[in-house]
Amino acid sequence: MNYIHWHIQIDNQDILWAGLDRHGKSLNTIDVTVLNELSDIIEQRCKGIVFFSLKKKGFIAGADIDTFSHYSEAEVENFIQLGQAVFDKLANLSIPTIALIDGFCLGGGLELALACQYRIVTEKTVIGLPEVQLGIIPAWGGVKRSIQLMGTFKALTCLLLAGKKITANKALTLGVVTIVVPKRQLESAAISILQQSVKFTRTARAYLNLSSIVISKTIRFFLQRRVNPQHYPAPYTILDLVENSQESEVAVIKKLTAPYSTARELIRVFYLKEQLKHLASDNNRLLSKKKARQHIHIAGAGTMGADIAAVCALKGFYVTLSDINFEALGKALVRAKKYFDEHSRNKFELQVANDCFTLDFEANGIKKADIIIEAIVENLNVKQTFFKEVEKIAKSTAILVTNTSSLSIKNIAATMQKKHRLVGIHFFNPATKMPLVEVIFPKQPPKESDAARNKTENSSAKSIHTELFTETLAFVSQIGKLPVPVKDSPGFLVNRVLTPYLLNGLELIGKGIEPEKIDAAAQNFGMLMGPIELADTIGLDVCLAVANNLSAVDAESNKDGSLIALRILEKKVAEGKLGKKTRSGFFRYNKRERKISPWLSKITWQKQSMFELEKIAEKLITPIILEAKLCLEEGVVENKDLLDAAMIFGAGFAPFRGGPMQYAANLSLNSVNNREKSEK
Ligand code: NAI
Repeated sequence: MNYIHWHIQIDNQDILWAGLDRHGKSLNTIDVTVLNELSDIIEQRCKGIVFFSLKKKGFIAGADIDTFSHYSEAEVENFIQLGQAVFDKLANLSIPTIALIDGFCLGGGLELALACQYRIVTEKTVIGLPEVQLGIIPAWGGVKRSIQLMGTFKALTCLLLAGKKITANKALTLGVVTIVVPKRQLESAAISILQQSVKFTRTARAYLNLSSIVISKTIRFFLQRRVNPQHYPAPYTILDLVENSQESEVAVIKKLTAPYSTARELIRVFYLKEQLKHLASDNNRLLSKKKARQHIHIAGAGTMGADIAAVCALKGFYVTLSDINFEALGKALVRAKKYFDEHSRNKFELQVANDCFTLDFEANGIKKADIIIEAIVENLNVKQTFFKEVEKIAKSTAILVTNTSSLSIKNIAATMQKKHRLVGIHFFNPATKMPLVEVIFPKQPPKESDAARNKTENSSAKSIHTELFTETLAFVSQIGKLPVPVKDSPGFLVNRVLTPYLLNGLELIGKGIEPEKIDAAAQNFGMLMGPIELADTIGLDVCLAVANNLSAVDAESNKDGSLIALRILEKKVAEGKLGKKTRSGFFRYNKRERKISPWLSKITWQKQSMFELEKIAEKLITPIILEAKLCLEEGVVENKDLLDAAMIFGAGFAPFRGGPMQYAANLSLNSVNNREKSEK
């Protein structure tokens, strides 16, 4: 048999070396042909088999979801059965089998490695079974083999239910890998094992027994408190498999990937993320030809500025942070240090991040920085004054960026000499956690008053602006965020679509519904945060500014409701209750910005009045969909996919519902289907 993806060689010791180089793809993934070829390879006569990757990056990234996501139910079934049969055959070989792993080894890739007797990995290796994050389960024996190696508790909590990646050293401690070696010693370690000069005697544990069932049931009890099984069924089906060994993985996967299932939506969300990453990496390539921008100055050390500064420093940018308020700078430093401690991967990175972060009491960094990010108060005059001054002293090549949440970039730039130098970039709160950043697209670059008469100069302003925009996209990706280009229109995309959600939530408070109940309804729908806690998180002063700036947009849809909501916001702001940053808003918060409220309330609401919660959720979600449709019509964002991605990654819209546009499309498809059924 001629192989397309595998390259094999049998050495003079009769060892078969099988290198995977998935044809036509940059990463190794597993499809039907890869499995069929593997099935043939492991039937060859030899004394041992060593699997490795011929790609520059990683071992195997998993099953090829590209093809998998388009499969019919029957094809999914065949694919799962084929994988199971091949990996079982591999696991049952009587000769030694070894996986040599350098870099990522995920999903189906790890299941292949688990079917081998030994896994030799480098320090750089990360392993994981991320299937649950896509709404499916490891169906090629990953569940039983990880449990056999690690024991039920560790396998479930560290690998299967979390879907998170684990490092080589942790994998060694957990017993998933055989040995961690430097990259240059991968092959020699394999040869030593094959020659039996090194012996590993790890006995497999029983797959399922009474204690496994007890462990699984206990984990289920705690999981139910955090994860709604109707929203995310996959982790529960893994527990079902552990508790009932009669259950078949094929049947489970068929159920999980049925039309309109969580899995179908989560797989689409995976692609949406890839789309945003691509946008970023394409721009990175453009940037690599240019001089990289190194020094970032951030003005405003409040909620946003402090976090943006910390994110940039951890990515190795030299950061200067200024504020007119001395105290704000002190607080920003404490927060940044905590963030570095929690997020740096090693001591070196921690040291670099600390060294890169400088408090700039005199705002001297503005003169030297390559990018200047403004994160001061949301007030047009204040921002205009700021940029008028900054423009005079900043380097002529510096990108001037505003992190406004609702003001028009064009209006902020109105008082600048060179208006085209201003780019809008909108982070979400908390900037350390939220992956999305809106980059405001220059549909019509602001005209230079004096250049308007001079065509050449005007077109050069246009091209400089487009270039700065492209560089800004690249910068956003360099700090590990997902950029989405949006038009310079009130509230841009996410805030505009979210504002009716927040205002409707506040309006319900005005009608006497408890804030806890409103948030529970939203979370019950699947939103990451209810509208009331979200308002507290954003800051009620910022919300008020945004709501006022967007009032023209909102007035058309729900004037009275918006007014009630605005009055409630004004009252809170006048009382100095600004939300999490003052530890008091609609809720009260502790030092770590955690809500101080009876945590049982959410569960109590859910148990008491599901129908009422659904009605409240409808009132909160319908305006999101209506506003999203308007944004598409007005070209605020290029297409429905980018809109859904922005709302999921920027606003925590329920990922398993696929984003507002996808949810709306599914709703109308469902209602058509239901109508057709009832007519029959
Ligand atoms: P904040 O009130 O927490 O912080 C603003 C900081 O700017 C304060 O420390 C203040 O002392 C400082 N400041 C004011 N004028 C200054 C000046 N001329 N030079 C230097 N520092 C100055 O506000 P927050 O929430 O950080 O917002 C900052 C900007 O980011 C606003 O434009 C806001 O609309 C925007 N934004 C806010 C989000 C949020 O959720 N809070 C989300 C996205 C954007």
